[in-house]
Amino acid sequence: MFEKQQFVKAVYNLKELPGERLPALILCGRSNVGKSSLINSLFNRKDLAKISSTPGKTRSINYYKIDDKFFIVDLPGYGYAKVSKEEREYWAKLINEYLASEKNILLAVHLVDSKVGLTELDVQLNNLLFELRILSLVLLTKIDKLNRSGQKTAVDIVQRKFTDLIFGDNLLIYSATKGTGKKELLKKLSSVFYSQ
Ligand code: GTP
Ligand code: MG
Repeated sequence: MFEKQQFVKAVYNLKELPGERLPALILCGRSNVGKSSLINSLFNRKDLAKISSTPGKTRSINYYKIDDKFFIVDLPGYGYAKVSKEEREYWAKLINEYLASEKNILLAVHLVDSKVGLTELDVQLNNLLFELRILSLVLLTKIDKLNRSGQKTAVDIVQRKFTDLIFGDNLLIYSATKGTGKKELLKKLSSVFYSQ
């Protein structure tokens, strides 16, 4: 399980989606939240996904294939402030269209920076995933930046806003640098993608 990881393709518009149909895990969330770092840390790879200290790095829908069994789809981050309004809107529209048209999504991981907390964009994304009936979980990232009590507060705040979340089930914490939460997330992914 999770032994083979390949970069497949960078997609810039919806006409370029891969022809191969496989179940997909979608990574979504705001820019700089740690989507690309998650891919590398999950599989102990240094540069499977490109990361930069400059946010807004991922400017395409990036497809990775795991064990020839499912895709991980790294979406561009929503709302990166330093690109033009037009570009932000282009990507927001593309992501929304993509989520609405892709029929093979088995799970969406909605990443939220534990230190930044929830923003309006997270509320919108949560509503969109709900409307599209896409199974999702919230992953509180960069949890290494908070101490124990800060972590608990971050979890509480998210649960108060999104009342259907159960910590340890569809609300998980994660640190790409420390490896916190990796086991739990992999367990979840194995139950969704390897159960058939
Ligand atoms: P976009 O491609 O812009 O949407 O960003 P992204 O969501 O892919 O974020 P990325 O993985 O590129 O990480 C953004 C920054 O956060 C980088 O500087 C990472 O090193 C840092 N980062 C990611 N995960 C963690 C984490 O778990 N802990 C800490 N401390 N930093 C992290
Ligand atoms: Mg990225």
